[in-house]
Amino acid sequence: MYSTTLDITQIRADFPILQRQVNGQPLVYLDNAATSQTPLAVIDAISDYYKHTNANIHRGVHALSQEATDEFEAARQKIQTHFNAAKAHEIIFTSGTTHSINLVANGFASFLEKGDELIVSELEHHANIVPWQMLCERTGAQLKVIPITENGTLDMSVYADLLGARTKVVFVNHVSNALGIINPIEEIIEKAHAVGAAVLIDGAQATPHMVPDVQALDVEFYTTSAHKICGPTGIGALYGKEAWLRKLPPYQGGGEMIDQVTFEKTTYADLPHKFEAGTPNIAGGVGFGAAIDYMNNIGFDAIAAHENDLMRHATKKLKKIEGLHIYGDVENKVAVISFNVEGLHPYDIGTLLDKMGIAVRTGHHCCQPIMDHFQIPGTVRASFAFYNTHEEVERFIAGVEKAVGMLR
Ligand code: ALA
Repeated sequence: MYSTTLDITQIRADFPILQRQVNGQPLVYLDNAATSQTPLAVIDAISDYYKHTNANIHRGVHALSQEATDEFEAARQKIQTHFNAAKAHEIIFTSGTTHSINLVANGFASFLEKGDELIVSELEHHANIVPWQMLCERTGAQLKVIPITENGTLDMSVYADLLGARTKVVFVNHVSNALGIINPIEEIIEKAHAVGAAVLIDGAQATPHMVPDVQALDVEFYTTSAHKICGPTGIGALYGKEAWLRKLPPYQGGGEMIDQVTFEKTTYADLPHKFEAGTPNIAGGVGFGAAIDYMNNIGFDAIAAHENDLMRHATKKLKKIEGLHIYGDVENKVAVISFNVEGLHPYDIGTLLDKMGIAVRTGHHCCQPIMDHFQIPGTVRASFAFYNTHEEVERFIAGVEKAVGMLR
């Protein structure tokens, strides 16, 4: 019998968008890996900020500027506490994970030499491939790839073989956005450290489901995007170990990131401001802080337990559909199901589901190498959040069955 410790009815009342209709049907939102929905606590925090506090930060002597600065810095501290970073200035506000990865990759241009090696995995989002490829083009470094096995997990024996004295950085996601697989990042980090390499973990898809402890992981860089965890779009955070953040050159120049500017020479501000050129997304930062509070009030253990129940139930039912294949069907995964039905295009299934008010994502999910590996154009991806219900899973299954029946 299905049970949860969460009061889903009460939780759903926090999300006005979940009450709406799509194509004449109550919305079933199963595209949470693309972006999560936003609770009133976050909407109100942003709205209150603009109603009562809006001013530019770190540079005004007036009351509003100081209040806005306090709110923004309080959000940074919430993120620090949440990820257990040792210092608040190890948290850099960015526009999201893509920005964070570009910031780090760009910084490594100063340290790399021709022939140095970087290790990526076949399971990555394009955001954790392309910035590093651009870095290789600039520096002559080489990109090595950890392949995936038939079930979508990383081939860790090849990883061990790829590591060597020339390995400078390893970058993998904590959780695959396309398949939901949780990668063995503890082992990845430990092995990289054994050869003196730094590690960046793309946490965009892990952070909605679990709380990473960056000190326990002993990771050099960890990224997250607020909109995946009930926060606003256009804001995220990069965690970096202080020594590394001091070593990396700034990514962008401008106001806020300087100490002294003359035409002869500019000196840079201390952390974290060195990496935060220009006026940041202040309201977004405040909303991000509110989202972290909201998620923690619900509790990540309860969130993961409920989502996994939904996923397991949906997986069992989907497997009964003839010709349906799930990619990345492994034990250690978050609540994401990526699948295809033999002979049918994922786009057609997604389009018919949309007509029934059911939102899923179709396509390559910004992971073309994974699709190439499986020799498919894309998948249908259903990704679950803590506010989804058992009834919604039933509607989704019935929707897939109906779509398959119509298309066959
Ligand atoms: N990277 C996001 C996804 O997986 C957009 O859908």
